[in-house]
Amino acid sequence: MADLEKALEKQVSRRSFLKTTGIGLGVAAGALVLGTGVVGAQTTQAPGAVPEAALPYVELDPEDARLRGHAAYWKAGCSYGPFYAVVSMLREKVGGPYNQIPLRMLGYGRGGVANWGTICGALNGAAAAINLVAPDADTNKLVSELVGWYTGFAFPSKEANAIGVAGGFKYDEKPYPKLELVTSVSDSPLCHASNAKWIAKSGFLLPTNERKERCARLTGDVAAKAVELLNAWKAGKFVATFKVDDQTASCLSCHAEDQEGKMACVSCHEPH
Ligand code: HEC
Ligand code: HEC
Repeated sequence: MADLEKALEKQVSRRSFLKTTGIGLGVAAGALVLGTGVVGAQTTQAPGAVPEAALPYVELDPEDARLRGHAAYWKAGCSYGPFYAVVSMLREKVGGPYNQIPLRMLGYGRGGVANWGTICGALNGAAAAINLVAPDADTNKLVSELVGWYTGFAFPSKEANAIGVAGGFKYDEKPYPKLELVTSVSDSPLCHASNAKWIAKSGFLLPTNERKERCARLTGDVAAKAVELLNAWKAGKFVATFKVDDQTASCLSCHAEDQEGKMACVSCHEPH
């Protein structure tokens, strides 16, 4: 296990001990605490059983998520990043069930699922974290908003570029490129399109450290955005704002029942 995780495990193990022995149950608000035989008062599940319901969420710091997401990208990839960021913070703040969730679970999503260039791994990892804490209906709204935001956002963000240039990604174990990176809008949730547009604009090819750093900053940005959305949702203030662009809406006025999706149709099809 790498130092980042080791340090974190150490840091959280004392607190989560308190939580798994029952002292922290107030924070977890009746949540099931796994693997210890201690079960929250409101559940009837057997000790050690996997909870079916969404896990408890507490407000998190988006800026810390940005830093953790960046470091985690360099450790195990874009999809691991936001999942690690959110779950590691919830381990510290809630403990209990979060200590039973393997942080490596989203590793497969790197490069758009095992380097297939499909869904951006950062989105995949963030969506998994959202689905852990939000009920299904809310997950759909939150993830759709996250994906919609991603397709129109110029990555990496000003915040991530500023931290990168200043060398402020404090959880990173190894040096990372500290230059200001050019930004690009993917107009797509696909890893393939997202990288292609940035590579065309920056001139840095896929295997370069600069391109990887671009995806590391993007991963931090997606983690931060996911936490912002979850905080708003938790506070009862989440409002979905994403709308498909006008052209896609016009395509869907005829194709809503024969085609799945909200992706910009003309990024792949000719209009007719
Ligand atoms: C006024 C209704 C309408 C609109 C608007 C519309 N389509 Fe279609 N589209 C159709 C019909 C009808 C077909 C033929 C269906 C079939 O062949 O089964 C079709 C076929 C297609 C096909 C199949 C390929 C082909 O040419 O046979 C694609 C791809 C497609 N549309 C994409 C789009 C895109 C992208 C847009 C928006 C830019 C769009 N459509 C807007 C009605 C529409
Ligand atoms: C990432 C690329 C991509 C995007 C974005 C995309 N499509 Fe497609 N679409 C495909 C592929 C690939 C197929 C299957 C191969 C084919 O038939 O061209 C397909 C198939 C279709 C077909 C059936 C074509 C046929 O021959 O029957 C229609 C209609 C269609 N898409 C409409 C849309 C509409 C409407 C949108 C926007 C909501 C959209 N597509 C977005 C790639 C895409």
